[in-house]
Amino acid sequence: MSGDVSVKRAGLEGVLATQSSISDVNGLEGRLIYRGYDIHDLAEHATFEEVIYLLWNGSLPTTPQLDDLNEQLHRYAPLPAEIKERISRIPKDANPMDMLRTIVSALSFYDPDASDMSREANLRKAIRLTARFSMIVTSFFRSRTGEQPVDPRPDLSLAGNFLYTLWGRLPDDVATRTMDVALVLHADHELNASTFAARVTAATLSDIYSAIVSAIGTLKGPLHGGANEGVIKNLLEIGNVDNVEPWLKDQFARKQKVMGFGHRVYRTEDPRATHLREMSRQLGERTGERKWYEMSRKMEEIIMREKHLNPNVDFYSASTYYALGIPTDLFTPIFACSRISGWTAHVLEQYDNNRLIRPRAEYIGPRDLKYIPIGDRG
Ligand SMILES: CC(C)(COP(=O)(O)OP(=O)(O)OC[C@H]1O[C@@H](n2cnc3c(N)ncnc32)[C@H](O)[C@@H]1OP(=O)(O)O)[C@@H](O)C(=O)NCCC(=O)NCCS
Repeated sequence: MSGDVSVKRAGLEGVLATQSSISDVNGLEGRLIYRGYDIHDLAEHATFEEVIYLLWNGSLPTTPQLDDLNEQLHRYAPLPAEIKERISRIPKDANPMDMLRTIVSALSFYDPDASDMSREANLRKAIRLTARFSMIVTSFFRSRTGEQPVDPRPDLSLAGNFLYTLWGRLPDDVATRTMDVALVLHADHELNASTFAARVTAATLSDIYSAIVSAIGTLKGPLHGGANEGVIKNLLEIGNVDNVEPWLKDQFARKQKVMGFGHRVYRTEDPRATHLREMSRQLGERTGERKWYEMSRKMEEIIMREKHLNPNVDFYSASTYYALGIPTDLFTPIFACSRISGWTAHVLEQYDNNRLIRPRAEYIGPRDLKYIPIGDRG
């Protein structure tokens, strides 16, 4: 763009890029709502399936509506045989987010509604995607450890089936509820980077699978969903509570960002971190290994004192998943297993009232250069 408008907001900070009625973040008050419901209320009382229904439909489900959604989620959860076969051929050392991106892309070949852009067909695709994300992640985990994939059980929730198909044994109630709350907390977050990526793709009237592939690639980055894996890497490297302060001083001296801290929007406590901190504490007490929670608390205290930064959603999710015994490179894929509900809600909303998303760039390069034949270039 030349002349008329000067863009100085790096990273589109504070820019309103669309209207949405799905979720809202109030960064000053530290509030997050899904369709008008406070995240604290939902984390305490709702199941992930209720939240999925809420995000897609705008209201909490009645019992028959929830039963119907559950029936569909169970019906679609098993992966097509071709997809199981593809997962088994993915290199065992592949990054699980790269695996997820590739398999979700391939899934579109086996969706009978792939080219149908009606709202009903897009909702069916959203259900299939949400039902299958966990299965893709856990099937890959079992494939790389040389175990047979486990079929999901119709009597388990999405949270329960994630753990069941990961471990091949029934999870207890505490593990299932912890997972369920984590899925509720990660389900949507207004116009975060991956959701924006999904909406940009959908706004070209490309299909929902393409939009979700864009979102997965965006979530992977360490400044977004990839941060939770970075957090656990740091905790493992620090090793004990006494080492927290020297380790952090070294990071500050080298001007390294500490994963799991800071946020573009929140200027106070991220309300999701409040729940994850408590779950991390409780799980630490339950397993008898309080070290990860204690190290996390110490990091939080020092970073607040030195940098005035709060922990974000990724910080305590790391020690929570670790205490559950989940492999560290599945932390970001778990984020995706939850956020698929929000991504698809936003894609549906984008299609409902679409206009191509095409902003401008302020051109700061040279002008009026003349072509030089290749032999004359110095
Ligand atoms: C989330 C994040 C990307 C937001 O970025 P942003 O809005 O562009 O904020 P900035 O990177 O401009 O940071 C503003 C200042 O705080 C500092 N800061 C922000 N996050 C920091 C962190 N995690 N550790 C140390 N310093 C941090 C920056 O260095 C900068 O300081 P400066 O003004 O002295 O240069 C950023 O806080 C970050 O990289 N956090 C770590 C990754 C993470 O946890 N991501 C998950 C987000 S939910």
